[in-house]
Amino acid sequence: MLREPRYDLVTSPTPLRRLSGFERALGRPGLFIKRDDLMEIGLGGNKLRSLEFWLGAALRERADIVLVAGGATSNLCRLTAAAASVAGLDCLIVHNAEDSPADRERSFLNRLFGAETRFIGPVGEEERGAATKAAAEELKRKGRAPYIVGDAVLGALGYVLAAFELHEQSQREATPLRHVVLAGSMGPTEAGFIFGNAMLGHPFQVHLVSVEYEKAELEDRIRLVHDGIGQRTGLSVGRLDQAPLHYHMGHLGGGWGVPTPESEAAIIAFARTEGILVEHVYTAKTCAGFLDLVVNGGIPPGEPACIIHTGGTAALFSQREQFRTLS
Ligand SMILES: Cc1ncc(COP(=O)(O)O)c(C=O)c1O
Repeated sequence: MLREPRYDLVTSPTPLRRLSGFERALGRPGLFIKRDDLMEIGLGGNKLRSLEFWLGAALRERADIVLVAGGATSNLCRLTAAAASVAGLDCLIVHNAEDSPADRERSFLNRLFGAETRFIGPVGEEERGAATKAAAEELKRKGRAPYIVGDAVLGALGYVLAAFELHEQSQREATPLRHVVLAGSMGPTEAGFIFGNAMLGHPFQVHLVSVEYEKAELEDRIRLVHDGIGQRTGLSVGRLDQAPLHYHMGHLGGGWGVPTPESEAAIIAFARTEGILVEHVYTAKTCAGFLDLVVNGGIPPGEPACIIHTGGTAALFSQREQFRTLS
């Protein structure tokens, strides 16, 4: 279906499980979670699905080292380091973070996976991108073959396939899923899922809980990647504004990475009701949005709903001081 080369990292479908604790507590059946945090490599997460395509491209180009950029706790960086080690590629990580003991500790797993880490200070995304390109040029001059990880459209293909995987699992349930709740952030995961959903004929109402941007910017980012998938694959799925897509902006609070009382409550509720860990930046607000929709009627009773746990749980271990109600 997708012609791009793919390096196998997500070896089997991730579990689709009932949230039976919440079903009991809320008195309604049909609540599910898709465990994309349960994968075999590097603690898993959404970026591993993208890395199947990025590493596929890197290997096709005969790269011998992958470069990736992100903050000290970046899930993309951690999973790139882990996946590169599996694929036999070297990995260089450019962190836009201080070279401080605290940030070195936050990026420890990257070095455990064998990556080289460079700390370029707390610069913005643009400067970080330029530093990464410069590092790739420097490697080329030394005779290396670098590949920079992160092409949004290519990475999004992982979630086109995830939509198919979830649909297949959903069809095995007595009442198939009707609603899927997902974090709204930089766009590739969402755009890929929406594109896959369209290819399937829109079985799911897709709910995006914004954790990073205001609505206009989130929409723009998703549209750009969504249209890019069409161009790259040659597949045509119709217009994005006709897709069954719902934006939920009420959980953004103070913005990316800033907890809200509801997101903290959601972390605690998922831990104590389901034994499932979620972290402050991406999944807590998505869980808060999911519970809000289920409790307050945004997702009507009788219509089965699923939240996608996109991973990131490793960050929880450096987030203890962000809890207001727990020590
Ligand atoms: C755990 C987790 N969930 C969700 C996202 C959002 O994915 P995207 O950037 O594709 O919107 C990220 C992005 O880094 C992530 O690490």
